[in-house]
Order: sequence, then C-alpha cells, then structure tokens
Amino acid sequence: MESYEKEQMFQVREASLDDLPQVMMINRLCLPENYTYFFFESILRNYPRTFLIAEVDGKIAGYIMCRVERGFSKFDRLSLKKLGHVISIAVLPEYRRRGIAKTLLSNALKALKEHYGCEEAYLEVRISNSPALALYQKLGFTIVKVSRRYYIDGEDAYVMARKL
Ligand code: ACO
Ligand code: ZN
Repeated sequence: MESYEKEQMFQVREASLDDLPQVMMINRLCLPENYTYFFFESILRNYPRTFLIAEVDGKIAGYIMCRVERGFSKFDRLSLKKLGHVISIAVLPEYRRRGIAKTLLSNALKALKEHYGCEEAYLEVRISNSPALALYQKLGFTIVKVSRRYYIDGEDAYVMARKL
C-alpha cells in the first residue's frame, strides 16, 4: 500500500471512559474552551452514542461530543423541539484535512436523529474560526444568530443550526 493511502485511514467509534484523558488532551491542545473531567464524563455517560472518537493507527486523532436538549427550534421560534447541541469537536493538527471532522460530525448528526430523536442540531463557533465555519457550512449548517461577546475573551459566536 502507498503511504499516502495509509495516511488517509482512520476509524470512528464511540468513546469509552478510558479514552477521556486523551480526549481532554486534544481538547486542550486545540481549543481555548476546556472542561473538567467530570463534565466530559457526564456527557459520555448521558449521550454515549454521539460522543465519538477517530483513531489513526490506534491513536486518538479527534473527538466530537454532543448533548440532547429540549428547546425552541432555531428555525421556528414558537415550536419546542429536541435539539442536538454539538458541544465540542476537534482534530489534532497533524491529522487535519483528511475528512476526520466531517465523518465525526456526520456520524454524530445521524445518531442524534436516529438514536436520540433530535429534529435539529446546533452549535456555537467563533466568528473568526474559518476552518470550522467551512466544515459546518459543508454539512448544511447555516448561521441563525450572532451571540455578542459569547466567549470569555470577548469574541462573538455564530450560532449555526440545521434540520436533521
Ligand atoms: N480551511 C478551509 N476549509 C476547511 C479547513 C480549513 N483549514 N478545515 C476544514 N475545512 C472544510 C473543508 O471544506 C473540508 O473539506 P475539504 O478538505 O474536502 O476541502 C471540510 O471542512 C472537512 O474537513 P475535515 O478534514 O473533515 O476537517 P478536519 O478533520 O481538518 O477538522 C476542525 C476541522 C475540527 C475545525 C479542525 O480544524 C480543528 O480541530 N480545529 C481546532 C478546533 C476547533 O476549532 N473546533 C471547532 C470549534 S466550534 C465547536 O466545537 C462547536
Ligand atoms: Zn455550545
């Protein structure tokens, strides 16, 4: 096999408790929004079908974690719906641009719909985060709102959503 082909290979599976230390390390390396072990663990225990990791040669390269919420639709503000909230997604720099985040997100969206019965998904993203914005747009998310000074450093967030 050619080495460039080998580099494309990754596997996606549901996370286990044993994966959390590595997931937390990736989160810290890739994002300023970090969480406690207790937070990761409670998301995993409550929503295991949408807490996914991608592995390359047995090493965790990226993760996604989501939560199910009841709230007003991002498209029709008068109707209460089950919403899938994408809390965090990240891929280590050396494994980027090979479709890992796209696969993590599309698999998580499928599980939000099919396993948890969500009708929409939404997330917040820094308005300057063009790689993530491009990813979300590619997967059908649109900007539904700007949350001013959403982040602790004062940056605004786009709230992006899509129907499932
Ligand atoms: N520039 C432009 N478009 C991009 C980029 C980029 N740097 N990265 C991804 N995209 C778009 C492209 O359309 C790409 O398709 P293509 O490669 O065929 O052109 C598509 O997204 C899918 O890209 P993937 O390869 O699946 O994305 P990757 O695995 O590289 O991960 C991610 C993208 C997660 C945004 C990564 O850059 C990362 O970890 N960044 C730091 C952490 C972060 O910002 N996470 C999101 C915060 S918001 C939240 O968590 C809800
Ligand atoms: Zn959020």
